[in-house]
Amino acid sequence: MATVPRRANHMNISFLLNGENVDLCNVHPTTTLLDFLRERRGLTGTKEGCNEGDCGACTVVVFDHRALYPLNACILFLPQLHGKAVRTVEGLSAPDELSIVQKAMIDMHGSQCGFCTPGFVASMTAAAINGDRDHDTTLAGNLCRCTGYQPIYDAARACEGMPLPAWLASDREALAGCGITELTAAQPRSSDALASLLIEKPQTRMIAGGTDVGLWVTKHLRDLGDVAFLNQATDLAQIAETEDAWHIGCMVTIEQLRIWAVDRLPAFANLLRRYASTQIRMAATLGGNIANGSPIGDSAPALIALGAQLELRRGADRRRIPLERFFIDYGKQDLRPSEFVETIIVPKSDNRLRCYKLSKRFDQDISAVLGCFNLDVQDGIIRSATITFGGMAGVPKRATQAEHAMIGKAWALETVHAAMDRLSDDFSPLSDMRASAGYRRQAAQNMFLRYFHDIQGTDVTQVHEVRL
Ligand SMILES: Cc1cc2nc3c(=O)[nH]c(=O)nc-3n(C[C@H](O)[C@H](O)[C@H](O)COP(=O)(O)OP(=O)(O)OC[C@H]3O[C@@H](n4cnc5c(N)ncnc54)[C@H](O)[C@@H]3O)c2cc1C
Ligand code: FES
Ligand code: FES
Repeated sequence: MATVPRRANHMNISFLLNGENVDLCNVHPTTTLLDFLRERRGLTGTKEGCNEGDCGACTVVVFDHRALYPLNACILFLPQLHGKAVRTVEGLSAPDELSIVQKAMIDMHGSQCGFCTPGFVASMTAAAINGDRDHDTTLAGNLCRCTGYQPIYDAARACEGMPLPAWLASDREALAGCGITELTAAQPRSSDALASLLIEKPQTRMIAGGTDVGLWVTKHLRDLGDVAFLNQATDLAQIAETEDAWHIGCMVTIEQLRIWAVDRLPAFANLLRRYASTQIRMAATLGGNIANGSPIGDSAPALIALGAQLELRRGADRRRIPLERFFIDYGKQDLRPSEFVETIIVPKSDNRLRCYKLSKRFDQDISAVLGCFNLDVQDGIIRSATITFGGMAGVPKRATQAEHAMIGKAWALETVHAAMDRLSDDFSPLSDMRASAGYRRQAAQNMFLRYFHDIQGTDVTQVHEVRL
């Protein structure tokens, strides 16, 4: 792309949109793809429902040479698309012809008012291309207010094994042909480049997946000032293994992490399955989920229970701290100017981790209470206990009094009840729109019992879901 003088903070962006090259000069960095499609391209098939990542009406298909994702266009900033291909509902079929997925939606009566339909079609197309047949999961981020999900689910099933659409190969060829175009300083290519940028401009706002930051723009209308998009720093999106630990880069997405964890940390993988929706998990990163310091983030309590550490980087200097020490107080993290979360280090161990997330909905909902338990029991005696809760305090926090009540004691119901009694010494939860203080306290206590029976082999995972 030709070099064009830029306005401060503005960026030049190139991507493929429905097979056509789009070269944009002087783009405001927090222009969302949804606004661009609807207001500047007249591509109004992609709908705006919630404008906060919840309903899936704005789902589009985004891909590069490595992977293909359904993403929510409403909280996707244009610079996140640099060097990638986007297909909207208008570009999923040949001209004047419906795609296989669109035909299936008609044949199975999967659409009534049609508002949600383009989003469903995009999610189903991505799932069919990726060979993902767990439709409860792939469609959990799309909301339909009138049809009912059975016909939509039937349409998704009818598309299993469909041939790959012709546009996929042609777009991939076009992407390979152009290579990655010019990057600005606000798109560091590596951890080193990000570290230098933050030293030079400590006020820079990092944008990882944008699933938090996106809402600051769409809902709070905030001007973010100087920003850096981390998605070009591919060295930050790796998981490395040493003899005694896994080193997870901050830009590893929650979905990448979930898939990785299935065989290594199954309890963590099960928890991440309940994290938001496919669209959000494919954008959100582990670094962002930790750095935002949310008391109701899902990853931190589980990682604290596993004894994880953080590697924080400032320029060439790195320091390591236990993850639990990162969370100082509500909204206050141990992060210095110019510093960023580079790596999350999870020790390998024979753990007995279990994670219990309570939220009003099974999918696409933030935790009211999250309890993560990891006890080491030998010869019937509890040798160590790490129990961490989300939603019970201003930060993710260990139940140290309850832990002390268990260590050195017999692995028995009596001990569990003693620990439950100590929980009020650890937490004074708040009431809010997700749960009352009393509910939180009792639900957290009951999780101790659930853990006991779970470890004893009782199936405690049955969730009363609608079965299709
Ligand atoms: C619809 C919806 C559902 C959600 N459901 C859940 C859920 O079920 N569970 C849950 O835990 N969360 C949920 N979230 C919250 C959100 O997905 C997470 O907090 C997410 O992990 C943030 O990661 P991100 O990469 O998108 O961060 P961003 O939005 O890009 O950044 C978040 C913050 O972290 C900073 N940051 C990012 N990376 C770094 C880094 N490496 N070092 C230092 N600072 C950094 C940014 O500057 C910003 O302040 C949901 C969000 C939405 C919109
Ligand atoms: S408009 Fe609802 S997820 Fe984007
Ligand atoms: S068909 Fe009307 S919202 Fe789904």
